Amino acid sequence: MIKKKINKIIKKKGKNPIICLTAYSKKIAQIADKYCDIILVGDSLGMVLYGMKSTREVKIDTMILHARAVKNATKKSLVVFDMPYKTYTNKLIALKNAKMVIKETKCDAVKLEGGKKISGIINYLVKRGIPVVAHVGLQPQNTLKFKVKGKSVTDKKKILQDAIATSRSGAFAIIIECVVEDLAKMITKYVNVPTIGIGASKYCDGQILVTEDLLGLSDLFPRFVKRYSNLSKVIEQCIKKYANDVKTKKFPSVNNIYK
Ligand code: KIV
Repeated sequence: MIKKKINKIIKKKGKNPIICLTAYSKKIAQIADKYCDIILVGDSLGMVLYGMKSTREVKIDTMILHARAVKNATKKSLVVFDMPYKTYTNKLIALKNAKMVIKETKCDAVKLEGGKKISGIINYLVKRGIPVVAHVGLQPQNTLKFKVKGKSVTDKKKILQDAIATSRSGAFAIIIECVVEDLAKMITKYVNVPTIGIGASKYCDGQILVTEDLLGLSDLFPRFVKRYSNLSKVIEQCIKKYANDVKTKKFPSVNNIYK
């Protein structure tokens, strides 16, 4: 079943765009599941939900709780668990943690940030039956600065090598974050697995965004985010009305009480 889903995603490379979003909770997962190929339980939840300064503060137990909720609410999409900071520092630790999160959450795959440096770890997991998504370009666990990658020739070469190394190690897809367009195009051409872009141009085989960003529910608005709504405003209007209704005793009304 998981293999089938993964093969279906791989076959879309160069043909049909792969649709991906993050989800941290049941309701968002249920809705995203209708439209997405991949749902990522991203460690971005640290900042988006918990107000942390970076993803480095996210603990594996927190991720497990959210991943369970997402996986239970998902029927058809492939659910990927984002391995948090320091949970894959070597092959053995990575395997132990990846096995544990898959057992606890029933997620279909794990995502690891890093390129060439972690390609041995990726290969070790893949050989032991754990499907892996790689993450190259801007890697929030490894840098606290938000900066577009791949502007210089040296940087381009390094990121291209990262992508090639992770695909050769067996990652079935590669997330490319915040790189210049021509680099994303080059990587997508050179690797034989799908590339999923976030701030990495239309040339990737698929796209991913943090759902709260597209909904206008987060405080970060990088250029690569398209905001489809401003839910923060909608929520504020609702809460303001509620507060006013309570103050003026309009709520609860006859419709909201038990006789
Ligand atoms: O944690 C996350 O949500 C991610 C995406 C931004 C790709 O890694």
